[in-house]
Amino acid sequence: MSKPKLFSTHVLFEEPRKKLAEHFDVEYWTGGERPSRSEFLERVAGKDALVCLLTEKIDRETLDAAGPNLRIVANVAVGFDNIDVPACTERKVVVTNTPGVLDETTADFAWTLLMAVARRLVEGDHMARSGAWTKWNLDQLCGTDVWGKTLGIIGLGRIGRAVARRAAGFRMRIIYNSTTRAPEEIEKELKAEFRTRDEVFEQADFLSLHVPLNAATRGLVGAVELARMKRSAFLINTTRGPVVQEAALIEALERGIIAGAALDVFEREPLIPDGLRRDNVVLAPHLGSASIETRTRMALIAVENAIAFFAGKRPPTVLNPEALGQS
Ligand code: DGY
Repeated sequence: MSKPKLFSTHVLFEEPRKKLAEHFDVEYWTGGERPSRSEFLERVAGKDALVCLLTEKIDRETLDAAGPNLRIVANVAVGFDNIDVPACTERKVVVTNTPGVLDETTADFAWTLLMAVARRLVEGDHMARSGAWTKWNLDQLCGTDVWGKTLGIIGLGRIGRAVARRAAGFRMRIIYNSTTRAPEEIEKELKAEFRTRDEVFEQADFLSLHVPLNAATRGLVGAVELARMKRSAFLINTTRGPVVQEAALIEALERGIIAGAALDVFEREPLIPDGLRRDNVVLAPHLGSASIETRTRMALIAVENAIAFFAGKRPPTVLNPEALGQS
């Protein structure tokens, strides 16, 4: 019996690749860069399954290009703002993501950014590397203490909680706002105080964003929110770029409305506006989940979802069970 045809827009890692080979007739995108839109649409045509990254837009045009055989889109990311899930559901195309495996790794990275911007690590690295460091000085690259400060978290889901958990070692006060207030035992465990969103913006010394990107969170941080922040505060973003209005952030940084920012995500990746290339901004190219262990686990989950679907089982992390005729 012939195997279902699967297109993967990345070569993935060895372990997931081996699994895919057992169950599918697989075609990989092997170009070094991401496929262009037309290359992607051409390769998806006639496939039964698609494994894709957050760089691929899965919309009606993609579904049209794929044709009627396409049954599952397995996204190798927890965020799925690149996918028009209702359009997929309409056509009974199952969509899956990779929740649960990248929380700790992403939280580690949010802290990496936070520490780097507070203690001016990137500036220090440039100085040390370039040979510009000629002598030690008392007031050289003095940053801001992290310990004992107030950490504000917007979105206390799995990643937000993992970020909060790490703050205990720094003896920080933790305040948060989330659409749904966390259960009492979680607040107790994390010593996290629920506050209004405005209060979190006003009181945080470090404000870390952990909401998914959707219609309600797009542009959530704009000029008004930034103006609420302390002039000494830092903004950390490891979720999705469009949660922050980049133009407003640039203006706030230029005018000294906030002290700095550490950003892993941008409005139009991989484009980084010149206004963000400042000493008081730490920039990273969307590395939150980028450890070899975690990225391998993410790819494995995507592959396991595709395998489960064609074995007649419910994919473990299905986003639209309605497309399976279940809910
Ligand atoms: C995700 O999974 O959504 C991240 O942004 C990439 O790991």
